[in-house]
Amino acid sequence: MKKINFNKAWCFKYGSELDAFVNYGFGKYSEATGAAARYYDYSDWEKIDLPHDYAVNLPKCTLANTMAGGRPVSHFARFFKEEHTNLAHVDNIGWYRKTFDVDKSLEGKRIFIEFEGVFRDSTVWVNGVYIDRHTSGYTGFTYGISDHLVYGEENSIAVRVDSDQPEGWWYEGAGIYRNVFLIIGEPIYFKHQNTFIKSSVNGDIRAEATLVNDTDAEVCECVRWEILDAAGNTVAETKAEHTVPAYTEQRITANLHIDSPTLWELECPYLYTMKISADDETSERFGVREIRFDKDLGFFLNGKSVKMYGACVHQDFGGVGVALSDNLNRYKIAKLKEMGFNSYRASHNPPSPALLDACDELGFLVMDEVRMFGTSPEALRQMESLVLRDRNHPSVVLWSIGNEEFSVQDSEWSYKLAEKVCRILKSLDDSRPTTYGGSNGDNFTGINRAVDVRGVNYIYNGKGGDWIDQYHANHPEQAMIGTEESSYVLSRGAAKTDFGAGVLDCRGDVTMPWGSTPKGWLKYYEARPFFAGGYIWTGFDYRGEPNPYVYTNFSSSFGTIDLAGIPKPPFYYYKSWCTNEPVLKLSPHWNFKRTDVAPIVIYTNCDEVTLTLNGREIGKYKVEPLDDIRVDIPFESGELCAVGVKDGATYKDVLKTAGKVTSLACECVLPCEREGDIAIVEITAQDKNGTPCPLANDTVEVSLTDGEIVGMCNGDPADTLPEQPTYHEEHLELRTFEKSDGVLYPVPTKAQNSRNTRVDWLKIAECREGYRDDFRHVAYFNDGKDEPTNEVYTTTVSISKEYEYIEFERFAVSAEVYLGGKLIGSNLKSPRNQSVRFTRPYRFYTKLAPGEYKLEVRATLNKGITEPFSGYVRLGRRVADPVLVNLHYGKARVFIKSKHPESLKAKIVK
Ligand code: GAL
Repeated sequence: MKKINFNKAWCFKYGSELDAFVNYGFGKYSEATGAAARYYDYSDWEKIDLPHDYAVNLPKCTLANTMAGGRPVSHFARFFKEEHTNLAHVDNIGWYRKTFDVDKSLEGKRIFIEFEGVFRDSTVWVNGVYIDRHTSGYTGFTYGISDHLVYGEENSIAVRVDSDQPEGWWYEGAGIYRNVFLIIGEPIYFKHQNTFIKSSVNGDIRAEATLVNDTDAEVCECVRWEILDAAGNTVAETKAEHTVPAYTEQRITANLHIDSPTLWELECPYLYTMKISADDETSERFGVREIRFDKDLGFFLNGKSVKMYGACVHQDFGGVGVALSDNLNRYKIAKLKEMGFNSYRASHNPPSPALLDACDELGFLVMDEVRMFGTSPEALRQMESLVLRDRNHPSVVLWSIGNEEFSVQDSEWSYKLAEKVCRILKSLDDSRPTTYGGSNGDNFTGINRAVDVRGVNYIYNGKGGDWIDQYHANHPEQAMIGTEESSYVLSRGAAKTDFGAGVLDCRGDVTMPWGSTPKGWLKYYEARPFFAGGYIWTGFDYRGEPNPYVYTNFSSSFGTIDLAGIPKPPFYYYKSWCTNEPVLKLSPHWNFKRTDVAPIVIYTNCDEVTLTLNGREIGKYKVEPLDDIRVDIPFESGELCAVGVKDGATYKDVLKTAGKVTSLACECVLPCEREGDIAIVEITAQDKNGTPCPLANDTVEVSLTDGEIVGMCNGDPADTLPEQPTYHEEHLELRTFEKSDGVLYPVPTKAQNSRNTRVDWLKIAECREGYRDDFRHVAYFNDGKDEPTNEVYTTTVSISKEYEYIEFERFAVSAEVYLGGKLIGSNLKSPRNQSVRFTRPYRFYTKLAPGEYKLEVRATLNKGITEPFSGYVRLGRRVADPVLVNLHYGKARVFIKSKHPESLKAKIVK
């Protein structure tokens, strides 16, 4: 199977209006109409590359559901108050189209299209043929399309996406937000996502695959299984012959052995590749490792005890919404690893494949989770799809069958459901345990009883945290893990809480009622070896769920890293205690008022720290394990310096009082390395001495000469600026044309243009000749049978700016449009043989430089139609708005597609 990236050169348009012209094509093969049709003029759609999120740049609005990020992308309202449902406009529908050539040589191949994730309800057409519908926003899907392609010609694909229904209680995005691939195989091929590799640390490898014979004859295939090491050398192989009858598939297995395998470890995540070949070929990466959850001693990887320091994370990110490039997914994992964490909870849905690849490659453990709990066909389909897709990832160590199912989790009913889910799941993969995010304390009647590893959502969910030890004693056979913990809320650079101002102290001392501080939960879990580990809520801020500011903010404050990827202070607390690296970090800043007492925190794992202010010693401090150092210091402008000693080596950190902002430093913190990558440039406000200004909140205008600005983010959950560049259309209306007889044609307001008299439409013929004894009167459509007349409408346009297109709101007849005597389009066919009949308004793209032009509309007038075109006629162009981003605590980040991040310029505008 050859996998070809299919992300490039798509077009997109918000679709509520397009929908009116679409017939899905259920009636006849390849006869879908409108935006779903085989041919369609979509030249006015936005040109995009996937992945793409059409929700993220909709205006933020507190009348929309702020729990979902406050974008009007769904009619669903979490708060059932009138003002929350009464939105003027909801952009829940998005249409995508693309044309692509399919070479004649591919005739006879088996071709599939794979969507890794579309939010949410999607319908796909290929060449106007209705293919299928997929209604889960987090599972991938693959359609066989070989039958519907025309070989040696141009083909088209159309995708309609409806994001209206939510699946969660957070920002979920909208559109084709993950990668799309074309997969090309032979008539006898290996079924996609059906390979399963099980490894033992002794080197025994058992592999399974499904061989499909999609031909009319029985075949005998010689299948070769080969294991390649990371350098591409064959380290094990075997062969076997399999007879597969015509049009059937067969499960095939092989046993291989790697001598002294290199294990997949967190520090050295070694990966092998299984290559399976016959007529076709498929390959799958895997790791050799052994996992165990011990009821008393926690988690073991390859026999070694590993405390799982984990983060629950939603999948969105700054600037891009949910449409993360592969390198942004990897960046998020690298950032968590830098913080000292080693585990990711895909809360509460299947993650993107790129994220799991990053975890495999970087050595990160994953708790992989379904979105929909239960045993309904949809829920089981989602679970099966997750397990089949992810079971070869060595990083995945736990399957989570759900989270906080409030309505049933306490009951016997839910036990039965969960027992069945686990049973079916184990039939697909019996090599990993199951868990569940239970927020119901010591309940053992419901789902908690059915899973292998008891997942605790918050020690404070249930008897104020006192129930844990008792639960462990009562259920000695069940291993335990903190599936969700912390839920502290914090602003990135705020020294003190000011609830009214929306400011939450940056140490993580403010928590939701069910939450714990960073120190609170970590000490609790560290003290209990039976806990395999715990996952904080959350690693990163995410859009939506803006607790505690549920009515006024757009994104959450739970993250230890903000939405832009910038660490908040507890990042260094975890780094001190979850890594062996020396850490010394002063926090939050040294810019207070003269009368303030500054609450300074030192995050460190040094043996001893000496603090000086402007050269005077303030004190010497020792830090207790799992703690930080907190010192209240009367403020005085200047320099606060910490010097720490660890194992005989000296470390230093300094905070300086910054003056007024005079410049902006731009630093590329993540480069574009591969096709499709997104780079991140961090902007920091600084004073005339180059000292960062930690409280700057100026508005900055950014521009990029080499590449494309994808998005902006400052990590402020209340920020109202757009997160991606915006555009507006500029128009010049043409109001009057002249007919050939010199009479003026003022373009009328949008005219009805429908045939509405019975006589116009039908013509009754005489009894036909040649039909003896046939006295029928034949009624036939008169459309086009009247003698049409031709008319030319002319106008002269004089422009001083460049324009990009001419647009007619409505045609009543067929017409051709000429510019300076040259045909630029017709409302029946666009130059690329695409029907524009179902496209309104009719837009003809043509570059118009400043100058004078003669515009002609050559119309074919049918009987009864006096207004051949109506509404508006205008020239138009798309104009980019200035790209603005506010600094938040002195920083903001810009997400770009560019190999030259140094070409990004930033200037303060207010
Ligand atoms: C949990 C829930 C999470 C999130 C969190 C906020 O109860 O599982 O999805 O809502 O609370 O604290």
